Amino acid sequence: MKFRTLAIHSGNNPQEHLGAVMTPIYQTSTFAFRGVNRPGPFDYSRSGNPTRKVLETCLASLEGGTAGFAFATGMAAETTVLMMFEAGDTVLVHNDLYGGTHRLFERVLRGKHIAARYVDLRDAAQAEAAFTEGVKAVWIESPTNPLMNLVDLEAVAAMAHRHGAIAICDNTFLTPYFQRPLDLGVDIVVHSTTKYINGHSDVVGGAVVVRDPALAEKIGFLQNAMGTCAGPQDCFLVLRGIKTLAVRMEEHNRNALQIARWLSSHPKVAAVLHPGLETHPQHAFARKQMRGYGGTFSFRLKGGQDAVFRMLENVHLFTVAESLGGVESLIEHPVTMTHASLPAEVLERMGITPDLIRISVGIEDLDDLLADLDAALAMV
Ligand SMILES: Cc1ncc(COP(=O)(O)O)c(C=O)c1O
Repeated sequence: MKFRTLAIHSGNNPQEHLGAVMTPIYQTSTFAFRGVNRPGPFDYSRSGNPTRKVLETCLASLEGGTAGFAFATGMAAETTVLMMFEAGDTVLVHNDLYGGTHRLFERVLRGKHIAARYVDLRDAAQAEAAFTEGVKAVWIESPTNPLMNLVDLEAVAAMAHRHGAIAICDNTFLTPYFQRPLDLGVDIVVHSTTKYINGHSDVVGGAVVVRDPALAEKIGFLQNAMGTCAGPQDCFLVLRGIKTLAVRMEEHNRNALQIARWLSSHPKVAAVLHPGLETHPQHAFARKQMRGYGGTFSFRLKGGQDAVFRMLENVHLFTVAESLGGVESLIEHPVTMTHASLPAEVLERMGITPDLIRISVGIEDLDDLLADLDAALAMV
């Protein structure tokens, strides 16, 4: 079956739920045994829950995996994956990425002797040289948050495998609708379902999808052992959101590309970082690796942080808020918001400078969005 059909039906068999067409919320912590020493298909909701199971099956089929896992948050998904590693292991991490992932590596895992080594994975020679003894995995975001740089998933996954390591990709920005990392050789896909997959800014959630049964076994064990799973209400909401993922992504993509083009010719804008623009240094590669660009991108204002603050104070339809991927448009300043947990020298090394704005373009009417940005830029 094709993507749109899977998004609506995968995992959901009404006959297993008293004929309910929409998956019910199994709001129960525990399940009655059929008899002594005879559990039913579920025994305890940390280990498994029917609402969660439908979502997990759906996520796996959309990403082209064999097993999916739903988590309480994107960070819970990341933490669970990274708990596969032992003290002494190293994970190669692409230079620029979501600030919370950097914080997890630096302020949680490093103290437990799981090291992150930052490299520019766009540079094949630099990446190859970084695969030294003890490197067990490579962590990739593509496009990166918020700089919209791309990493060649197929090449980096192959490189990791040659060195006996695995490749992990955070696919939050594009979702499987626009990019399927497992098809390119990546071993583990991670999501913040808080973003496009749920799409309505009313849930925090995470997901992991794998193809290899041995990895599925490990992640399933850790999800249960660590108790990082998503609750049934949240799974229900994500399931409701995921049904419209394809149509939402088309609209986000169309609106964002139009806005990126419009911003590119605005006199107060210094640069627009959007892989769908011909000016993006990896535009040709983007067209090869991705089926679309999503709805989130960044741009730089000529007047630096003062100009950014003036613009953010004067938007009305765009909401100044962290997060992305909802039907409504959001705007934020990475240096003081989403990426504020990063030390100043790391921000500078990454190129996340005070003149940078990130927008998550929603699916409102394009004319209204452009009018709002135009009026706010007029005040800069
Ligand atoms: C790319 C990316 N990965 C992971 C996360 C973490 O997800 P959550 O906020 O659901 O824990 C975020 C959150 O912004 C993100 O942007």
